Amino acid sequence: MLILDSVAAMQQWSQARRQAGQDIAFVPTMGFLHQGHVSLLDAARKAADLLVLSIFVNPTQFGAGEDFDTYPQDLAKDTHLAKKAGVDVVFVPPAAQMYPQGYNSWVEVAGITEVLCGASRPGHFRGVTTVVNKLFNIIAPRVAFFGNKDFQQLAVIRRMVKDLNLPVDIVGLPIVREADGLAMSSRNSYLAQEERQQALCLSQAIAQAQQLAKNGELRVTEILHRLRMSIESHLLVKIDYLKICHQDSLQEQMLVDENSVLLLAVFIGRTRLIDNAFVMEPVAKIPL
Ligand code: PAJ
Repeated sequence: MLILDSVAAMQQWSQARRQAGQDIAFVPTMGFLHQGHVSLLDAARKAADLLVLSIFVNPTQFGAGEDFDTYPQDLAKDTHLAKKAGVDVVFVPPAAQMYPQGYNSWVEVAGITEVLCGASRPGHFRGVTTVVNKLFNIIAPRVAFFGNKDFQQLAVIRRMVKDLNLPVDIVGLPIVREADGLAMSSRNSYLAQEERQQALCLSQAIAQAQQLAKNGELRVTEILHRLRMSIESHLLVKIDYLKICHQDSLQEQMLVDENSVLLLAVFIGRTRLIDNAFVMEPVAKIPL
């Protein structure tokens, strides 16, 4: 397994491999890998001749006062997991090469970036689409893998790829959860013991919404009211947003149907966590 820490070296490797007739699967991450990331690597390994993993804590997708400076890192553990997953190249570009002095170009998707996480974190998706576009240009993958954990991010990337005719297939994979239901996230490492316990309110809210819908309650206002009461009974938890939206447009719905996704973001202490699920999915998937 190669570890490349220069944009030029990554670009050269990728060009040579493609000229030799090989195709590349790509998994972009910010590192501090967990089983959610590994599930993407496992699927990507089978999808092409070669597998590239990027680890880059992208400064442009963090807002002022967010956790860019404290974002967890463990390159030794990440490379160990990458090797086990059969990664060919770990790409760890320095920020000064990704955004050199004078850098001034941005990729921006309108519309679906203006709601949910886009409303709470202005500029976040511009940073994401810009860096993903740059990584696609450097690595030139045939296929790239993303998690449904970041449901809106995946929708935004699909929109960008379609709108800009990028020659990359996008594959989305299910959320990997801890045994008790908490969606895996690098940010879970911020949680103190009591916060970790209260973080279960996210997956419990999903299970509650699914149960309500199963019992015939399809009115979004009523479902969200009940969820809000349950979540707010957790003293360390503050809701950022709690919405039921159409899976494609991300517009809020009045009544639940097969296209309805529950999307939620909460602060637990200073840690912001997100989760989501289709409301009409089988209830049993998340432990109550
Ligand atoms: P990061 O948060 O490291 O996530 C990298 C990829 O792993 C994303 O596609 C994310 O949806 C997926 N992922 C995270 N937790 C998951 C889980 N529990 N189950 C399944 N997949 C999961 O998302 C980013 O980095 C960045 O925004 C990035 C796309 C790399 C651009 O900087």
